[in-house]
Amino acid sequence: MTKYVINGGKPLYGEVEISGAKNAAVAIIPAALMVEGVCRIENLPNISDVSTLLNILKQMGADIRAVNKRTIDIDCSRVRTPSATFDMMQRIRASYYLIGALLGRFGRADVAMPGGCNFGGVRPIDQHVKGFSAMGAKVSVRNGIVSAVTEGNLRGSTVYMDVVSVGATINIMLGATLADGVTYIENAAREPHIVDLANFLNSMGADVRGAGTSAIKIRGVKKLTGGFYSIIPDQIEAGTYMAAVAGAGGRVVIKDVIPKHLDCISRKLREMGVTIVDLEDSIIVERTGALIKTHVKTMPYPGFPTDMQPQLSTVLCLAEGTSIVTEGVWDNRFKFVDELAKMGCSIRVTERTAVIEGISHMTGAPIKAGDLRAGAALVIAGLCARGETIIDGVGYIERGYEKMIEKLTGIGADIKAIYVPDEPKVQKRA
Ligand code: EPU
Repeated sequence: MTKYVINGGKPLYGEVEISGAKNAAVAIIPAALMVEGVCRIENLPNISDVSTLLNILKQMGADIRAVNKRTIDIDCSRVRTPSATFDMMQRIRASYYLIGALLGRFGRADVAMPGGCNFGGVRPIDQHVKGFSAMGAKVSVRNGIVSAVTEGNLRGSTVYMDVVSVGATINIMLGATLADGVTYIENAAREPHIVDLANFLNSMGADVRGAGTSAIKIRGVKKLTGGFYSIIPDQIEAGTYMAAVAGAGGRVVIKDVIPKHLDCISRKLREMGVTIVDLEDSIIVERTGALIKTHVKTMPYPGFPTDMQPQLSTVLCLAEGTSIVTEGVWDNRFKFVDELAKMGCSIRVTERTAVIEGISHMTGAPIKAGDLRAGAALVIAGLCARGETIIDGVGYIERGYEKMIEKLTGIGADIKAIYVPDEPKVQKRA
């Protein structure tokens, strides 16, 4: 097993380049299933969630070729099956996007749901089911397998989201692309990766309007044809490095970003005493003075993102005074605070609210990541802490962060990955 070892307490200086957005990539790759011809996808992040999805498509018969480190050609013309090995699907959370894409292409989908979520209990899909049902599909969920089938094509319909759901908005958008007639998604999510998926689909011949607002209109088209598309920069990866500089101190230029997508994060960090300068496609983050407490509630975009909550909560542990963090999206996203407590942090959690009392410094400790963003938060804690921090469970981090060790080393962090052999299983005596 791999662990990260961090010798913290060093400010960060230099430049870091941000990769393509994970949550856009995991929607765009399934969308390629609906395209007749070759899709060239550029700025693909090199992370394990992406390679798992590509393997699922390959297994279904897609022809996938690497053009260079960040660019691939996907040709799904020869895919003939609406199903893939359930075992592989269960490894990623985004497997449910295959439902919309397969329903659109084949009028049928059999997809394994990811198991219980590491931070929020079971992830409901009632809004996805509601949308596909409104479009004429029969959907059943049994033993962790979602089966959806429709006679002929899905039919355009109006779908009102009872909760703002990124996944359901994307899934219905995928299904509606090749449906008969017009679909309206009301109370849609507005995240940058929803706009990115719409732009991808439109560049392949779809007719999606209004993405980025809460009302999306999709006029079904007969077919999508190949083309090329470049994925947007990862808002949350950029935010994670911003939080790292805020916590550890220093001055870093974060390159290849869309500063507008980072506004919701920049505003909070500025309140906390961090200097942020927006340039055209990069930002400068600098923190030299003391951190100031703040309060934050996570919300769908353009609110403060839930996927930045663990990282920001970690930095707030070092802010003078009492900060209050409210999780407005997921039920149970504060498990990581038990690990921070081992480093001396003072956080009291009641249901969806954390009350954080600032401390003067954290102390390195052996800790364990329980999910992707919690893992990123623990890396930030290690960078801020005095002494050595050893982080277990780093597989979660590698699901969503490309070359985190190299990127952090490049800005002066003392962090390395070590391989620790698994302990041999003890044989019981007969
Ligand atoms: N919800 C329902 N019913 C549904 C769907 C969602 O009640 O049918 C609820 C959820 O329980 C949650 C809220 O709606 O309380 C929002 O869930 P959403 O559907 O927006 O989440 P998701 O699409 O499953 C994506 C990201 C998550 C991110 C959330 C919220 C991907 C692959 N995942 O998940 O990202 O936290 O949106 O922004 O895009 C991450 O990257 O670390 C990550 C977890």
